[in-house]
Amino acid sequence: MANHYLVTGASRGIGFEVVKYLAENDHLITAVARSQDKLSSLRGLYPEQIYTNALDITLEQNRNELVQHFNDKGLTLDGIVHNAGLLINKPFRELTNDEWQQQLNVNLLAPVFLTRDLLPYLNPGSHILNISSMGGFQGSSKFPGLTGYSVAKGALSIFSECLPGELQDKQIKCNCLCLGAVQTEMLESAFPGMDAPVTAGDMGRYISNFLENGHTFYNGKVLPVSLADPS
Ligand SMILES: NC(=O)c1ccc[n+]([C@@H]2O[C@H](COP(=O)([O-])OP(=O)(O)OC[C@H]3O[C@@H](n4cnc5c(N)ncnc54)[C@H](OP(=O)(O)O)[C@@H]3O)[C@@H](O)[C@H]2O)c1
Repeated sequence: MANHYLVTGASRGIGFEVVKYLAENDHLITAVARSQDKLSSLRGLYPEQIYTNALDITLEQNRNELVQHFNDKGLTLDGIVHNAGLLINKPFRELTNDEWQQQLNVNLLAPVFLTRDLLPYLNPGSHILNISSMGGFQGSSKFPGLTGYSVAKGALSIFSECLPGELQDKQIKCNCLCLGAVQTEMLESAFPGMDAPVTAGDMGRYISNFLENGHTFYNGKVLPVSLADPS
């Protein structure tokens, strides 16, 4: 049976691929990012199944409009992939207040607020999947320049551990995947020139499968998805 999922950060990289695989598996997807043109290209691949909403998840008004859209159309969801991310690669001592705030907004607060505001539209049995990073996994290697990003992703991991207890009565499950290196624009900005062992397509397939099935086996878990050890 077709499910309806919300995927953020769907205009490129991993999120784009997650949406493609979900559509290939006959699901309906609401795909969100700021770049309207790229979302239109994505929609063109499966126009019957992919709905797009160009918005900035850090803006309260944009989030409210999305929630209103669900309300107006009588839509419900079977899961959310909080995949949108922002990495500003800069030494700790140079990272400005605004750059801290931006990274906390995209990587932590937008998923938190969207989850809270979309709860009334999530069906029992839904799966909330937070996409974190190995930088936000306790005990992993940490890298200079990625402190703001890693701190925000670490908090997203803990949020994922907290949520199942809060949502037990609604039978909604939540997990967090901490990704290792995947070949995307973000990786290029974090580790210029690095050749990642995993493509966005491979990771997109893995995440879409985990979204569909992972909550049968896991709830409140923060799981490393990385070939490297320990980073
Ligand atoms: N690639 C890696 O090696 C790696 C490793 C660990 C974790 N991750 C995580 O995996 C996720 C996907 O990463 P990626 O490598 O595919 O990143 P990416 O290529 O930089 O794509 C990021 C996505 O997030 C969207 N986005 C950013 N800010 C947004 C905002 N304010 N509102 C709405 N959408 C926004 C971007 O779309 P617009 O610009 O169109 O808004 C884009 O679609 C991220 O959470 C990232 O932290 C990636």
